[in-house]
Amino acid sequence: MPGMRTQVGIVGAGPTGLMLSHLLHLRGIESVVLESRSRDHVEHRLRAGVLEQGSVDLLCRSGVGERLRREGLRHEGIELRFAGESHRVPMTDLTGRAITVYGQQEVVKDLIAARLAAGGSILFEADAVRLDGLDSDSPVVHFRRDGRDEELHCDFVAGCDGFHGVSRGAVPEGVLTTYERAYPFAWLGVLAAAAPAVDELIYANHERGFALYSMRSPEISRLYLQVAPDEDIAAWPDERIWTELRARLETVPGWSLNEGPILEKSITPMRSFVVEPMRWERLFLAGDAVHIVPPTGAKGMNLALADVALLGDAFAAWYDAGRTDLLDSYSATALRRVWRAQHFSWWMTSMLHRLERDDPYETKLQTATLRYVATSEAYARSLSENYVGLPEV
Ligand code: APR
Ligand code: PHB
Repeated sequence: MPGMRTQVGIVGAGPTGLMLSHLLHLRGIESVVLESRSRDHVEHRLRAGVLEQGSVDLLCRSGVGERLRREGLRHEGIELRFAGESHRVPMTDLTGRAITVYGQQEVVKDLIAARLAAGGSILFEADAVRLDGLDSDSPVVHFRRDGRDEELHCDFVAGCDGFHGVSRGAVPEGVLTTYERAYPFAWLGVLAAAAPAVDELIYANHERGFALYSMRSPEISRLYLQVAPDEDIAAWPDERIWTELRARLETVPGWSLNEGPILEKSITPMRSFVVEPMRWERLFLAGDAVHIVPPTGAKGMNLALADVALLGDAFAAWYDAGRTDLLDSYSATALRRVWRAQHFSWWMTSMLHRLERDDPYETKLQTATLRYVATSEAYARSLSENYVGLPEV
């Protein structure tokens, strides 16, 4: 059976696996990334696109921020719409920090380009099927490529293969504890060839359901609607989508959406999910493989990047000085940030969506919470510091 060897075997070429491979390369550590899908597929998969200041700093500091600096859209506030009112949360005034809107697939493209330019090894259409020897000092990733079985031998395995990957399942029964919450709704997301009508994001709580107004560039809008969890995309022709977006977002006198051809649409389920610990023996789990947040708090990609920043330092300490302390503390350190983001994402989600049952009490609580954000600087600052990202958690 053909075998190859590297120092860190990375499963998954999403932002987590690619950024880890990049950070390891900067530290002189070799890795091989296995990715089951094609390069074209991972570079065009449409996902969220909000980067905290700390994520932008990490990308820039590590030399992959050139296009991000040019094309990323810096935002200093968000707008909340509810009960016919509109309120701007001035995040930068309240925290000194900002967020940047830059699609996740653009981060993925930049990282792939950087890895390949540096001679890095990313094997596309290489499907990891089994991890072995994780409790020895020579783990093996078994994968299939071009119809053949192959092996990747390494010192450590990084499981960066998302929620549906194989890595988490390689941990023996009884080791991991799962914490989760399902939500009785999903998001229908569209990308439209329409100039954004405003230059900040709008989060709208409406009796017909939540809506979010976002963007990707001066020509492209990104919009979301709360829909039923089992919603069929075929039931949403473009005209129905625009009608619903107008109903939920055009609630302020004189404000209207810019419409344009819908380029892409898809439905994403909502879940909160964490497994602990994020490490077992020589397997280190990171990103969506170990934690998922509902997208309302815009935290997913930021958590992924924060995980691998820790892992990069931990592997460097091991390879440079034989230190195990950072590898040993990785899970506990990462989980502190993960749980802060879990709470914030759950809180934003609960405040903004129409909940399962018609529950007038719940609706009153949501409006009271939103009014509190709108009138209390302390509460608005709390939302803002979570949204722009807490430097240390
Ligand atoms: N073998 C190889 N690759 C695999 C396997 C496997 N068995 N299973 C899954 N993968 C790949 C997927 O094809 C995907 O490209 O792992 C990658 C995981 O990437 P993501 O799902 O993007 O997860 P991650 O890199 O952790 O990024 C987290 O994605 O969902 C968003 O909000 C989330 O922004 C966050 C980010
Ligand atoms: C996006 O632009 O895709 C986006 C923005 C904010 C969110 C989620 C998604 O909370």
